[in-house]
Amino acid sequence: MHARVRLLAALAVVSGCSLQEASNRVDSTAAVTQKPSSRAWNPNTWQAPTVDSTPDDPFEIAVYRGLAILTHTRDSLPGYVGGNLNCTSCHLDEGRRVNAAPLVGAFARYPKYMDRSGAVVPIEDRVNYCFTRSLAGSKLPPDSREMQDIVAYLAFISTGVPTGEHVPGEGLAKMPALTGDSSKGRLLFVDNCVRCHGNNGAGLGPIPALWGPQSFSIGASMARQERAASFIRHNMPFDRPGTLTDQQAYDVAAYITAMPRPDSPGKETDWPNGGTPPDAPYDTKGHKAFRPPKVLPRTNNPAAAIVAAPASVSRTNK
Ligand code: HEC
Ligand code: HEC
Repeated sequence: MHARVRLLAALAVVSGCSLQEASNRVDSTAAVTQKPSSRAWNPNTWQAPTVDSTPDDPFEIAVYRGLAILTHTRDSLPGYVGGNLNCTSCHLDEGRRVNAAPLVGAFARYPKYMDRSGAVVPIEDRVNYCFTRSLAGSKLPPDSREMQDIVAYLAFISTGVPTGEHVPGEGLAKMPALTGDSSKGRLLFVDNCVRCHGNNGAGLGPIPALWGPQSFSIGASMARQERAASFIRHNMPFDRPGTLTDQQAYDVAAYITAMPRPDSPGKETDWPNGGTPPDAPYDTKGHKAFRPPKVLPRTNNPAAAIVAAPASVSRTNK
């Protein structure tokens, strides 16, 4: 994986010049013979590298462990996961599937300003939003090995994406502005979802919960009707994605998001500068909850579910 770096270092030693000079020399030679494809950024042809299944250096091993945590989050970190979801319950195909909030390319966009936090946040905080909200769990210490393994995986699957750039299919595709009918959604749920997610939405075996104490919290993006509709429209039913219409996806999303789910402590301070999306199911400054579901108290340590915006160490008057 670091073959190029090793090659440059070797060249630098042999020729007695600096690494920078060696680098320039290699590039100018390459420019004459062939275009250095690794340097040219084209979002449409870029592909995330494959994780080495026989890792043999410390960074590759961290990447490998990071992927294992993403796919087996609950088993790997039971103290940090509230329900029966893993990261890849939503970030499908190891975080590589477009329109399923892909994680490829994400690393290149952090630190990033988030409206919901009203702050510029590092990728560790973004990961912890998903631990505390989407997994209804507890934040992972940013300086823990497990967090750094996750970040190593995220960095690796963004290899070659320049800082601040975007890749196609990022996030969850924006849906047309419709409103779901939860009674129609209930019927659609029975016909299309029960066989996997169970008739009480609690999941079956390895299949994750859609509501109830084992599900994502009210503060998760997935708890918003439009966000859930987009995920469902493009990715569910798991074995027949794309078979529901936009309206049907909204209907079933309306049904699911109206059901009880774990609370998300501190959610009332989201979007501190205004601009709360219309479908946020809880009150924030200047926003009235949209169809709020019943919230279930957090059984795990509620304080560990709050990821505060980075605080200044020098400014005391805030
Ligand atoms: C219940 C579904 C769900 C689960 C489980 C989940 N996430 Fe997310 N995650 C999302 C959604 C939805 C977004 C926001 C996508 C958007 O709208 O841009 C997101 C965003 C992210 C982002 C930012 C992506 C970007 O483009 O900026 C990262 C990083 C991330 N999640 C990591 C994780 C990790 C790591 C885990 C496990 C600890 C996890 N997520 C679990 C749903 C989930
Ligand atoms: C064939 C089985 C199957 C069917 C049918 C199915 N799902 Fe899923 N669903 C899954 C699996 C499996 C995952 C997790 C993906 C993974 O782990 O790779 C999932 C994940 C989800 C998630 C994100 C994680 C969570 O638990 O919140 C939502 C939301 C969801 N499904 C909604 C639905 C809806 C709505 C329907 C019906 C329209 C549906 N699913 C039908 C298997 C299924």
